[in-house]
Amino acid sequence: MTEQADQTATTMEQWYERARRTVAGGVSSDARRMAGTPLFVDRAHGAELIDLNGKRYVDYVLGQGPDILGHASEIVAEAVSAQVRRGVAYAAQHRDEALVAELLCDMVPSADLVRFNSVGSEAVHGALRLARGHTGRDLVIKFEGHYHGWLDPVLHSVHPPLDAAGAADRPTTVAGTLGLTPGSGDSLRVLGWNDPAAVEAAFAAEGDRIAAVICEPLLCNTGAIEPEPGFLEFLRDICTRNGSVLIFDEIITGFRVGEGGAQQRFGVTPDLTTLGKAMAGGMQVAALAGSAAVMGTIASGRVGHAGTFNSHPVAMAAAKAVLGHLHEHADAIYPGLTTTGQSLMTAIAASAERHGVPLLVAGPGPLFQTYFTDQPVIRTYREYAACDHALAARFHAELLRHGVNIVPRGLWFLSTAHGADHVNETAEMVDAVLASL
Ligand SMILES: Cc1ncc(COP(=O)(O)O)c(C=O)c1O
Repeated sequence: MTEQADQTATTMEQWYERARRTVAGGVSSDARRMAGTPLFVDRAHGAELIDLNGKRYVDYVLGQGPDILGHASEIVAEAVSAQVRRGVAYAAQHRDEALVAELLCDMVPSADLVRFNSVGSEAVHGALRLARGHTGRDLVIKFEGHYHGWLDPVLHSVHPPLDAAGAADRPTTVAGTLGLTPGSGDSLRVLGWNDPAAVEAAFAAEGDRIAAVICEPLLCNTGAIEPEPGFLEFLRDICTRNGSVLIFDEIITGFRVGEGGAQQRFGVTPDLTTLGKAMAGGMQVAALAGSAAVMGTIASGRVGHAGTFNSHPVAMAAAKAVLGHLHEHADAIYPGLTTTGQSLMTAIAASAERHGVPLLVAGPGPLFQTYFTDQPVIRTYREYAACDHALAARFHAELLRHGVNIVPRGLWFLSTAHGADHVNETAEMVDAVLASL
């Protein structure tokens, strides 16, 4: 690219125009599409982003969750720059890989053995292949509204159109995009979240074919939905009784809602866990962790698992530094994230009440969801789908205009870099937006 060409675009709008000539749709992930110009970031530090127009935002997207220590944290920056000088890619074993695996096994209750990948979708792919290979069965139970990455075996019934989704107690399996492998949904059984009767019925009908049950134990891709009391224990029990593998997809919740993730928070240990996002403070890495019994089928080589960039030295250096920090300071970090998040949640809820806006704020604190609804609780995808998404889109757009960046569907992530000043500033901007809605 010539210097002159560089000068043809300066604003976000101009860069979007320019990018669209060579980047399909102007974005590299469909999750970054927006009604108007998508956010083009110039730089980010701590809890703040600066866009290409020089506008500052308090950031609650945090790279879709990973930046738990805030942007450009010294811990990540030092680890990454030191490793880059020792070599970027080895495709060989190295010490940090074993050290990160040891940290994971110390922190995550279900982890006896670990394998690494680069992104969450791959780790989920590995978990499903392992469950099928280990049990010799074909079917997987997946819940409506749960997202497990963009690959064919699981990109079904995430946010299906209601006119195609069938009855709530017997959802139809709906493909999430054109182009999926023919029949890729046939080996799924899609059920409603928090519906033990449906799970019982599925096992009664086909229990000897069910390789795995996969779920987000704290559902974060469709609001922030806690499991009903006893539901995860029920899943644990029915999988154990039927010889099926229970998989918790903790790619969002891992190292975010506690050092041991949702499984530690709810006291239920799955057979396999997928991890990613917050694990390396923004560097791209994912892990498949699980019991020695199930992971042994990978250890023995009977189920294949590979990847050029697996246990990438730079990502492992970041993971070692971030996990080491989270592990050592867990007693301060997680209560801190919870308190900061909850004080913002309280301020938002109070503001909505003052302005008579039907807004529900729910979640544990280190992440939370704002839903436009007069319902007191959201328990399922169908209840989420009934919320006012047009109003949520206006809320998101107006927040962005005021300088607050949240995940467009209404999810908020906190980092250790968010302090009381950010909360107060955000609360004021939310109040202005809610007044205008
Ligand atoms: C719960 C969950 N599983 C899997 C994935 C896929 O991870 P990745 O986008 O890193 O492939 C995501 C991504 O948001 C996720 O939230």
